[in-house]
This record gives sequence, C-alpha cells and structure tokens, in this order.
Amino acid sequence: MATNDIRRTQLERVLKKHNYQESALLEILHSAQEIYGYLDRNLLMDIAGSLNLPPSHVYGVTTFYSFFKMKKPGQHIVTACLGTACYVKGVEQIVAAIEKEFNLKRGGSTADGKLSLLFTRCIGACAMAPAVVLDDQVIGKATKEIVIEKIKNVLEGTKDESV
Ligand code: FES
Repeated sequence: MATNDIRRTQLERVLKKHNYQESALLEILHSAQEIYGYLDRNLLMDIAGSLNLPPSHVYGVTTFYSFFKMKKPGQHIVTACLGTACYVKGVEQIVAAIEKEFNLKRGGSTADGKLSLLFTRCIGACAMAPAVVLDDQVIGKATKEIVIEKIKNVLEGTKDESV
C-alpha cells in the first residue's frame, strides 16, 4: 500500500471516530496535520467534503490558527510511528538517533529546511514495527542505521536550492 493510501486510511479512521461531525473540525485538522505533516489545499478540500462543509469555512479555520502548517515543512519528511507496537520495538531510539545525526528536534526541521521530523500514531504496519515513513516510503523493521542511511541518500539527491 502506498504511503498516501496509508495516510488516507488513517484520516478516514479519524473522521469515522468523530462521526464526520463538523463540530470536531479542529480535532480532525489536528489529527490530519499529525498524519500528513501539513495541511495542503487538496487535503482541506478532502476534509471539507467528508464533513459536508464549505471548503472556504475549513480554509478559514485553518488559516486562523497559527499552529496549522499549510506548507510542507521540509523538502523531505521523516515520520516516526509512535504507536504501541513501534514504541515497544524501540522507535524512540531511532528518533533519538535521527535528532543527533541531523541536528534537529522532534517536530522541527533542519536549519537548511531539507528535513523535518514528525510523528504519527499507528500507520497499520504493526507487523513491520518499528515503522518509519520517509517521504512516500515506509521503512518496516527499521533500525537507526537503515533509517539514517536512507535519509542521507534522499538528502544527497536533493539539490541545494540556495545555489
Ligand atoms: S504501531 Fe506503528 S505501525 Fe502500528
């Protein structure tokens, strides 16, 4: 399953949990940001459609609160699953290793904006715990060595836009 499908499935679970109630919009937006890392136009349209709300209303709420990010935070996003299975299998050690190696804090981005470290709850890949998602790639049975190497590879493939 592609990462976007996994994320959409997670979002659907959140929508269902809130019974598709428009009164839960803020909580749903929070969860959506946790799942996707940011709220872009397509995602807001999707949420508006699911809750049967005018897109302008959803957009208005999102722009009103500064804690909602509407732009992709870093050029690359690594998302660690903090669900129970992944936690038990040591995802915290992987997160700590990423922070140290790339000098960034959880929830934040590197100074050059090339990498962001975000979190999510169970992505439905518990059999492959610990799971980490790098952009659109799910890394199952992840180790800190594998994850760091893969991050380095994608960062090397990133052109320096400041040049
Ligand atoms: S707890 Fe991480 S994939 Fe289920």
